[in-house]
Amino acid sequence: MKAAPHWWKETIFYEIFLRSFKDSDGNGTGDLRGILEKLDYLKDLGVGALWITPFYPSPLHDAGYDVADYDDVHPEFGTLGDFRELVAEAHKRDLKIILDLVLNHTSEEHPWFRESRRAKDDPKRDYYIWRPGKDGKEPNNWMSLVGGSAWEYDEATGEYYLHLFSKHQPDLNWNHPMVKQGTFDMVRRWLERGADGFRLDVINLLMKPPGLPDGVYREGSGKIDGRYVLDYPLYANNPGMHELLHELRRDVLEPYGAATVGEVHFTPASEAWKYVDPRRRELDMIVQVDILFDRTGPKFVKDRVKEWFLAFQGRGWNTMALGNHDTPRMLSTLGNDGPWRTLSAKALAAHILTSPGTPFLYQGDELGMTNVAFGSMDDYRDIEMRRFYEQLVRQGKPPEEAFAWLRPRSRDNARTPMQWTAEGNAGFTAGTPWIGVNPNFREINAAAQARDPDSILAFYRRLIAFRKANPALIHGSFYPLMEDDERVVAYRRLWEGRGFLILINYSDQVSPLEAGLVGKGRLLIGNYPDLPQECAARLRPWEARILALE
Ligand code: NOJ
Repeated sequence: MKAAPHWWKETIFYEIFLRSFKDSDGNGTGDLRGILEKLDYLKDLGVGALWITPFYPSPLHDAGYDVADYDDVHPEFGTLGDFRELVAEAHKRDLKIILDLVLNHTSEEHPWFRESRRAKDDPKRDYYIWRPGKDGKEPNNWMSLVGGSAWEYDEATGEYYLHLFSKHQPDLNWNHPMVKQGTFDMVRRWLERGADGFRLDVINLLMKPPGLPDGVYREGSGKIDGRYVLDYPLYANNPGMHELLHELRRDVLEPYGAATVGEVHFTPASEAWKYVDPRRRELDMIVQVDILFDRTGPKFVKDRVKEWFLAFQGRGWNTMALGNHDTPRMLSTLGNDGPWRTLSAKALAAHILTSPGTPFLYQGDELGMTNVAFGSMDDYRDIEMRRFYEQLVRQGKPPEEAFAWLRPRSRDNARTPMQWTAEGNAGFTAGTPWIGVNPNFREINAAAQARDPDSILAFYRRLIAFRKANPALIHGSFYPLMEDDERVVAYRRLWEGRGFLILINYSDQVSPLEAGLVGKGRLLIGNYPDLPQECAARLRPWEARILALE
């Protein structure tokens, strides 16, 4: 059956961080057959597309975002046969499979790079970006996005290669025709194997600025506090970027009707729409990473949602996500993971699932999973956290302080195993998990919530079904309200005479409503069991209300 052309507007995406989702064979690592076991859980939740983080053979320095072979499955994660079975079983349930494509860089173990680094005149030398040093130093002053120089000196040929991420992830040279052709062919093969679309990793960094000029330093704009970091926008949206995505779409994706969502960095909404304007035929959607990486609070989120909605209006489709595998848990940063855990998890769900744009949910958020606080650096696995730690210590921060600062910010907060049950290892694995399980699994787990009609999980199911049944929430226009309020997020969604009013209190305190909103609408869904008359003029802590406007 051919899918509706714009199915990705009407469905809800769910991100599976594969390593931590479900282990089927006891090796401590989540795998493709683990997803197979949980397809019915996902179907019951109501999501329609599964974005699976990279499962390709990889030394796993960066959780699989360092790909050594784009055409196979890492033995820890399964086999190509498992992939085929997963696609078939997912399709039987009307679930789409979205693969994560890492095109900016490969692993240093990829055969292309092994050959490229052999000799200056190797036929694959220019598949990557090699430069001689300048005055005995790196070719330019670029910093990697995970700290330190973006250049690595390679003994074999006495030159440096570029890596915008870790040194294990050399950047490809997208000006080389064979890089393009080889990659396009590889993408076609995944489409032949049944992939329905792709999430494109750091997609707007592929083209580099001509001449690789030095960057300008400015203060305190990176992920680590108060230091001088490079002006990263230099890496983004360089000449040829839009043309390349257009070609990929025209020559590879469109014939299969594949959907795309690109991860776009360092790009304001006023520029980003160009990637998703249907007339330009590039991407279908992009992830708005500024919302994900800034956790200063609801005002920032609501300002960005409005900005992105206005910038894209009439030109492209939005997305909405408050968490993923690169950020600490949304509940611990935007919500309240203490006394208001259940209510605030539901409030965040209401925000994601009633906003304009396709919602992207992150595994475990539907259970109200929280940050973790492991005891020492040895318990953490993420390369980014390790690099930042080394850097802070090198800069003179006492190790305990560096650790204390990084702990709540670590990506590992969102990468602990999915909490399925109250049994050992949260029902994630029969073996030893590759990263520790959050000790709160006995209280927070899917099995307990599946039995409880008031659980966070039950609320997600209800909201997902509600969104799917109400085109006003999908296609409707969006009118922000109470825009200056620091705690309340409020908006209207309207479509063909039907409308909703959404009110969310992002705080532990009672928050008054604007006079004009008091008494408006009929309550349809709320995270408190009732709405007594005296509450109409104010929102209780973390209260979320979805009201029908007649
Ligand atoms: C973005 C991915 O989401 C992140 O996890 C990864 O480290 C970088 N891209 C590099 O591939």
